[in-house]
Amino acid sequence: MNSRRYTVDLIAGDGIGQEVVPAATRVVDALARRHGFDMTWRDRNWGSAYFFEHGRMMPVDGIEQLSDGDAILLGAVGHPDLPDHETLWGLLIPIRREFLQYVNLRPVRVLPGVVSPLRDVEALDIVVVRENVEGEYSAVGGRAYRGTTDEFAIQEAVFTRTGITRVARYAAQLAATRRGSLTSATKSNGIIHSMPFWDEVVASVVSEVEGVRLRSTLIDALAAALVLRPGDFDVIVASNLFGDILSDLIAALAGSIGIAPSANINPPRHHPSMFEPIHGSAPDIAGKGIANPVGQLWSASLMLDHLGEAEAATALMTAIETAMSDGVLTADLGGTAGTQEFTSAVLRALSSGN
Ligand code: NAI
Ligand code: MG
Repeated sequence: MNSRRYTVDLIAGDGIGQEVVPAATRVVDALARRHGFDMTWRDRNWGSAYFFEHGRMMPVDGIEQLSDGDAILLGAVGHPDLPDHETLWGLLIPIRREFLQYVNLRPVRVLPGVVSPLRDVEALDIVVVRENVEGEYSAVGGRAYRGTTDEFAIQEAVFTRTGITRVARYAAQLAATRRGSLTSATKSNGIIHSMPFWDEVVASVVSEVEGVRLRSTLIDALAAALVLRPGDFDVIVASNLFGDILSDLIAALAGSIGIAPSANINPPRHHPSMFEPIHGSAPDIAGKGIANPVGQLWSASLMLDHLGEAEAATALMTAIETAMSDGVLTADLGGTAGTQEFTSAVLRALSSGN
């Protein structure tokens, strides 16, 4: 019996998630055959369709059902007829939090054949490490006097020493394996309690990791610098909200949000980690078969790496790059290939060599 057997929960979810997740399983199944490991997929029909039938995004014991799996591969959730906070807080956020996936890793590189809105983008090779379970995404607060002129909303951000320490340590250790440069996104001039606290804890954690230079940069200036000089950045550590915004920005600089992957990681591996493209369900193109599967495929590569299948993970990235250098591109990148056609090109690249 193969000791390299993995059980992965699949949540294709909504919209183009239903198109790009099957692309990823086709490719991973092919990699499993070539690299000698076994994949068992557990298909979960959760998401908005499930919501319309059952009044919730996943079953009451959904988290429990996922807990004995090795990883989760997710497409996207979000439906035009449902409020986004319902879909997000009904599925994604509970999974991230219950499984303590406190690191949200978002690598961005410029793949072949991509036209960036920037003039000089070759040097762009950045990993955003986004804090994933606290910060500005908090349920603390409330609304009162609804519908009256006195109506108000209070939204608290939650920053803990434990939460900042562990994400900063992960980011610093990652920077040490790359080019040794860590940028911390802050706003300690305007947000006067949580951000100075963030700065202090990040600085003290990073000082313990050898070979890492830390820069603390205000988020607004950082956004501008990323557009002007993307090659200056290596690893960026950011709070939940700042990291979310920066990673979409950087992904767009690299050509399309359709190519960008993410990993929601529980570093101590007490719980499954979850891998998903950063894009959403893209209702504007859903059902047309034209979605770019690269973000999903790259996410699957991050998953394989996490599972210990580094060779297969690298082979997958090489095959994606081969297909793209051969000019097979989806519409978001100016090409004419559909999802299936692109996926077939990746499968061909896999079997013809690497
Ligand atoms: P989106 O990422 O779904 O789409 C933004 C634009 O990018 C659209 O024009 C879309 O066609 C294009 N696009 C996205 N992915 C693409 C791909 N793979 N190939 C080609 N083009 C692609 O973001 P939007 O429109 O703001 O949100 C749509 C829904 O998705 C909302 O309900 C939102 O809440 C949800 N969403 C879910 C996320 C998740 O599941 N993690 C993340 C972001 C949004
Ligand atoms: Mg986002």
